[in-house]
Amino acid sequence: MIMTTPELVPILTKEEIHQKIIDIAGKISCDYAGKDLLLIGILKGAFIFLSDLVRHLSIPAQIDFVRASSYGDTMSSSGTIALPCTVQIDVRNKHILLVEDIVDTGLTLSCLRKYFLLQEPASIKICAFIDKYERREADVQVDYACHTTHEGFLVGYGLDYAENYRGLPGIYHLKM
Ligand code: IMP
Ligand code: MG
Repeated sequence: MIMTTPELVPILTKEEIHQKIIDIAGKISCDYAGKDLLLIGILKGAFIFLSDLVRHLSIPAQIDFVRASSYGDTMSSSGTIALPCTVQIDVRNKHILLVEDIVDTGLTLSCLRKYFLLQEPASIKICAFIDKYERREADVQVDYACHTTHEGFLVGYGLDYAENYRGLPGIYHLKM
């Protein structure tokens, strides 16, 4: 068997990411001014994006997390979403912004959206660092995205492949 080293093709630099965070945080701060905003980060992938995003908002926001997983150690969704850990904060009458690293099939967010809608929030919107639409299966609207791409498996800035590469400061296309 021939083993090849995966190639990391740069997509976004640390500096480009920084500017995108400033821009999106500005939009969110305008849209949610005066509203009870609750950011719900989807672990693990969103941990870096959420921590940068919240520090660039000019409005107050509460933060909580859910843990969702659908991939295991593969590059495609299993289609079954496990939710081993959910929020502690009461979401009723709050304006929820679901914060995700990357939307691919959309199954995770579609499932989480339905789950939180049952808890009677004031609103639910979706903020993803990357919107990748080639394999979209569920009809989800990504309200805020820093970067849109058609295809490719991306890593870095929180995004992993089999739990590796999350700590890279930029975004890379992982070519096997
Ligand atoms: P979805 O349910 O197919 O939209 O999958 C969303 C989740 O799959 C994301 O939160 C990521 O954890 C993972 N994922 C999807 N595409 C990629 C990728 O290109 N790189 C790393 N993780 C990905
Ligand atoms: Mg992942």
